[in-house]
Amino acid sequence: MTSKNEATKIPTLDDSVEPTSRPVHAQTMKAFVQDEYGTAPDEVLRLAEIDRPTIGDDEVLVHVRAASVDRGTCHLMTGLPKLMRIMGFGFRRPKAANPGRCLAGTIEAVGKNATEFKPGDEVYGTCDGSFAEYARAHVGLLALKPTNLSFEEAAAIPISGVAALQGVRDHAQVQPGVRVLIIGASGGVGTFAVQIAKAFGAEVTGVCSTAKMDLVRDLGADHVVDYTRDDFADGEQRYDAILDIGGNSCLSDLRRALTPGGRLVIVGGETDGRWLGGFDRQVRAMMLSPLVSQKLGIFGAKENSADLVVLRDLLETGKVAPAIDVTYPLREAAAAIRYVQEGNARGKIVITLR
Ligand SMILES: NC(=O)c1ccc[n+]([C@@H]2O[C@H](COP(=O)([O-])OP(=O)(O)OC[C@H]3O[C@@H](n4cnc5c(N)ncnc54)[C@H](OP(=O)(O)O)[C@@H]3O)[C@@H](O)[C@H]2O)c1
Repeated sequence: MTSKNEATKIPTLDDSVEPTSRPVHAQTMKAFVQDEYGTAPDEVLRLAEIDRPTIGDDEVLVHVRAASVDRGTCHLMTGLPKLMRIMGFGFRRPKAANPGRCLAGTIEAVGKNATEFKPGDEVYGTCDGSFAEYARAHVGLLALKPTNLSFEEAAAIPISGVAALQGVRDHAQVQPGVRVLIIGASGGVGTFAVQIAKAFGAEVTGVCSTAKMDLVRDLGADHVVDYTRDDFADGEQRYDAILDIGGNSCLSDLRRALTPGGRLVIVGGETDGRWLGGFDRQVRAMMLSPLVSQKLGIFGAKENSADLVVLRDLLETGKVAPAIDVTYPLREAAAAIRYVQEGNARGKIVITLR
């Protein structure tokens, strides 16, 4: 693995796959496969030689140059919380056999209706199965890659960047001059949310652990709260909007830190709850919201090309940049997932196939 502070060695494709099992047929590819749920990435994921995906009329085949890991990758690997199995991700085993959702790469082939793109275009977005040399993607989930970013940087963006954008813009409705609290500011979603809220003109307070306070400050946060030492709800400060991305604070603390007409947006938050995760808190927020002056909301991000284009503008004008912690070669995808699972990530973890 490499960190952004080291002289980054980008492995070649031959470095990043097992040389003993290179393709025997031009239409096959190296891809990670997941046959079952489990908590240990190295036991659940295997690198295999499989057929390249075939594409439908509204799809394209992308030659994947880089992918990234997000918390969703970890949930899809473990099948926890179990609620997600009931919601259609696969009850006994994952429905999607190939892990990885974010990608950046070049268009290899286009479907009959996929007129938005042509072979050779450099794109970024989401798909099923990006921890692979090739991936099938719907055109509605892709956009042209920001011209100023590498494939590794672009791959870090789609899921976390879109969730941050929709959380800040659509749900928190951040306007210039408002005070915003971002809980989980040092993680995949939070590092984008801090920058997007600043780009929208907000005064931003980020919440994270001691070791990551420097990162959150460098991203532009006006104030940083160390959750291991201080409680954001203590003191006089009140916020017009709170994005709770990574915390598990109780609703009464969150409401105490909000102005009377403020907006709470619960984006996520990890718990040990095997059935519901943190979802019970989200349900309580939804039920309470109509009864109080504050707006208490939850949301599931909707990935789409239009928001990737909005993000591209923010990235190309330098208002937002991905914070990449570590880059792993494809063959070390399990280690990349474990790094996120263990809560080590400062921003995003990327997998490279170059
Ligand atoms: N609603 C949606 O559509 C959507 C989309 C994407 C992700 N999510 C969810 O959002 C959550 C975060 O995802 P992510 O990719 O950003 O994860 P991540 O990269 O692991 O980041 C987690 C963040 O939470 C912080 N955190 C951990 N414990 C905390 C605590 N007790 N109090 C305050 N902050 C704490 C971490 O800070 P330190 O690392 O400094 O400890 C870090 O900043 C996950 O639950 C994920 O499933 C939801």
